[in-house]
Amino acid sequence: MRLLVTGGAGFIGANFVHQTLAERPGTHVVVLDKLTYAGNRTSLEPVADRIDFVHGDVADADLVDRLVGGVDAVVHFAAESHNDNSLTQPWPFLQTNIIGTYALLQAARRHDVRYHHISTDEVYGDLDAAAPAFSEDAPYQPSSPYSATKAASDMLVRAWVRSFGVRATLSNCSNNYGPYQHVEKFIPRQITNLIDGVRPRLYGAGHQVRDWIHVEDHNRAVWSVLEHGRIGQTYLIGANGELDNKAVVRLILAEFGRDPDDFDHVTDRPGHDQRYAIDATLLRTELGWEPRYSDFRTGLADTIRWYREHENWWRPQKEITERAYVAAGEQVL
Ligand code: NAD
Ligand code: DAU
Repeated sequence: MRLLVTGGAGFIGANFVHQTLAERPGTHVVVLDKLTYAGNRTSLEPVADRIDFVHGDVADADLVDRLVGGVDAVVHFAAESHNDNSLTQPWPFLQTNIIGTYALLQAARRHDVRYHHISTDEVYGDLDAAAPAFSEDAPYQPSSPYSATKAASDMLVRAWVRSFGVRATLSNCSNNYGPYQHVEKFIPRQITNLIDGVRPRLYGAGHQVRDWIHVEDHNRAVWSVLEHGRIGQTYLIGANGELDNKAVVRLILAEFGRDPDDFDHVTDRPGHDQRYAIDATLLRTELGWEPRYSDFRTGLADTIRWYREHENWWRPQKEITERAYVAAGEQVL
């Protein structure tokens, strides 16, 4: 199979490329990535001679048309992905997440190429503590500029399936963790802070709940949907990993042998979503997917080890990222 992977130099995309080459050696991978601040060419260094890498923009319709015309399938990971950035600079989110998806859908339509769309549980908004988890038919209620643009891109995919017969599937996953995640995100930020002897930073009271899944489990689910999913169908991906942010910080502190209260509360995120939770029954029953990382502590310990062993990978981004948080007004409460 010839596969176009957009955003393959980012966190989930790079893990997807590594897993694909390791587990499906017959796949020819073409990566299209703009190498924004979030893209890291070194994430693909170990497989550089086994892939075609194209440095470019998913919103570049001519380039996208040419690349899509040469493959059997597209897996579209590329996005502006960080909620905090979408609050300070929303425009790149509209351009990449909406216009980029439009360009890919038009190309998939023209060349009749199979398309899989990577999306997020955030399109469904947030949940009260006692509410049942999101399922595929939950109403779209995005809260942030990021999740609003992801919701818009999902709607484009659904419309292109129905109106033009594009052979597309969608998957909406919960919070991922694992290697190669940018240090702006919650778990890598706290791990790298602790490596640097800095206290972890918890937004507000830290009672928000996220449903954590290891990135390898997410990507195995993506392959299941790509190979066996029903055209037009959305599949929710999650591994029953609900934890509040304070509990996650305390697990990380424990791995570093530090006191459980050794963290700072900082300025909360405006409009902060309270809780996400996924009901992955459809994926499990219809496609037979099961997560391999059933224990978050094991996955977290593996991830901490990876960051300890790959300082060269994250170090160049650390100071820039922390300065951006200060510039955005983050203060210890
Ligand atoms: P990331 O920010 O780590 O990586 C995004 C990648 O896309 C980077 O390599 C970047 O250079 C590239 N990119 C950005 N704009 C581009 C453009 N215009 N053209 C080409 N490439 C561009 O993101 P991630 O966390 O790996 O997320 C990947 C996808 O998964 C996104 O669609 C995101 O919405 C979705 N998702 C993420 C999570 C999560 O927990 N991280 C959970 C569910 C869904
Ligand atoms: O649910 C899926 C989504 O998960 C994806 O669509 C997004 O691309 C991805 O970034 C992630 O969004 P979140 O906003 O949930 O992830 P983030 O890592 O930014 O934050 C996780 C939680 O931790 C959130 O409640 C905010 C909080 N937080 C974050 C940072 C960076 C902190 O308390 N301290 C921090 O320093």
